[in-house]
Amino acid sequence: MNILGISFGKKNANTDILVKEALYGCREAAPDAEIRFVNTCSMNIGRCRGCGACSTALEKGKDNDCIFKDDFQELENQVRWADAIVLGAPVYVLQPVGQFKDFVDRFSCRHDYSAITWVLDKRRKGEMPGNADDYPMERLKKRTVSYISVGGASTENWTSMGTATLHLFGFPPMMKVMGNYNANSMGTIANPYLDDQLMDDMHEMGRRTVQGYADDSVEFFQSTAKPAGVCPVCHQRIITILPGTTRVECPICGIEGELSIENGAVHVEFSKEQQERARGTFKGLREHTVEIQGFGAICAPKIMKNKEKLDKLMKERIRNFDTAIQNK
Ligand SMILES: Cc1cc2nc3c(=O)[nH]c(=O)nc-3n(C[C@H](O)[C@H](O)[C@H](O)COP(=O)(O)O)c2cc1C
Repeated sequence: MNILGISFGKKNANTDILVKEALYGCREAAPDAEIRFVNTCSMNIGRCRGCGACSTALEKGKDNDCIFKDDFQELENQVRWADAIVLGAPVYVLQPVGQFKDFVDRFSCRHDYSAITWVLDKRRKGEMPGNADDYPMERLKKRTVSYISVGGASTENWTSMGTATLHLFGFPPMMKVMGNYNANSMGTIANPYLDDQLMDDMHEMGRRTVQGYADDSVEFFQSTAKPAGVCPVCHQRIITILPGTTRVECPICGIEGELSIENGAVHVEFSKEQQERARGTFKGLREHTVEIQGFGAICAPKIMKNKEKLDKLMKERIRNFDTAIQNK
C-alpha cells in the first residue's frame, strides 16, 4: 500500500506535526506500506488559468495533463501514486491556505470520475477520438483520505470553513473520506505535542484511513472531543437555508435536507435518496457532467442570435474600457 501525507503548513510547524502523527497511525495499521510525506510550503503552485487545454486534450483522445508547468505536477504525481492520503492545511482567514485551493482547482477537473469515464465510454463506442485503454486510470483509482484543518483561534467560528473546504480535494475522484478534524486552538495549545487527546485522535484517524481502504465496516473517525457533523455524508455542520421553505442544503455535498426543531433543537434529515446523489458519488458527479454537456446546445444558438449585439458591446464596453473609463 502507498500512503501519502501532505502538509500545506510551515515546515516542521503544527500541520506537519499533526499530519506526521496521523502517519504514525497509518504505519501501525500497515507495517509494510511505503509512506511518503510532502510539505508544500516552498512549492510553486500557480493558479488554474482556465485555459481549457486539459479538456481539449481529453476530447482529442489524449491524456488531460495540465500544460502549465510548475511544482503542481510533482504534488499531483504523489497523489496519483497514493492509495491512502492524510491531508492537512492551516486556516488562513477562515479557510485553508490559498495554495491548497490553487492545487485543488488544477487537480479536480482532471480527476473527475464522471467526466473522464463519460469521455472514455465515448472513445470505446468510437464517438470520440482516442483509445480508452491508453488513459492513465491511476487518476481515478480507489483511495481513502482524511483531512486535518489547523487553526490558531480557540473558537471554532474562526475556522468555520476549514474542514469543509478540504473536502473539495477528494470528491471529484470519489475518494472515500475516513475522517475530518478541526484542530483549532493552536494559539493556546502552543504545540500539538502538549495535547494528548489531539495526538491520540490523529493517530486513530491515520489508522482508519488505512483500515477503511479494504474494509467497508471501518467507520468514519469521530473524536469524542469534537462536535459531530450534521451532514451524514461529509460530516460538516455548514448548512444553506433555502429561504421561505424548511428545506436546506449541504453546500459541500449539494444534497437537500429537511429542517425541523425537535425538543428545542435544530434537526436536519437527509433522505437516503439525497445521500446517494451527493457530489462525491458517481450519481452526483454525473448530474453535473450532464449539465455541462448541455451548455453548448443552450449557448451556441443564443450567441449566434445575438452576435451583432455582443460584438458591438464587447468592442464598446470591454475592449475600449481603458480609454472610456480607466484612463479618462
Ligand atoms: C495570514 C494568516 C491568517 C490566519 N487566519 C486564521 C484564521 O482565520 N483562523 C484561525 O483560527 N487561525 C488563523 N491563522 C493561524 C494559523 O492557522 C495557525 O498559526 C496555524 O498553526 C498555522 O499552521 P502551521 O503552524 O502548520 O504553519 C492565520 C495565520 C496566518 C499567517
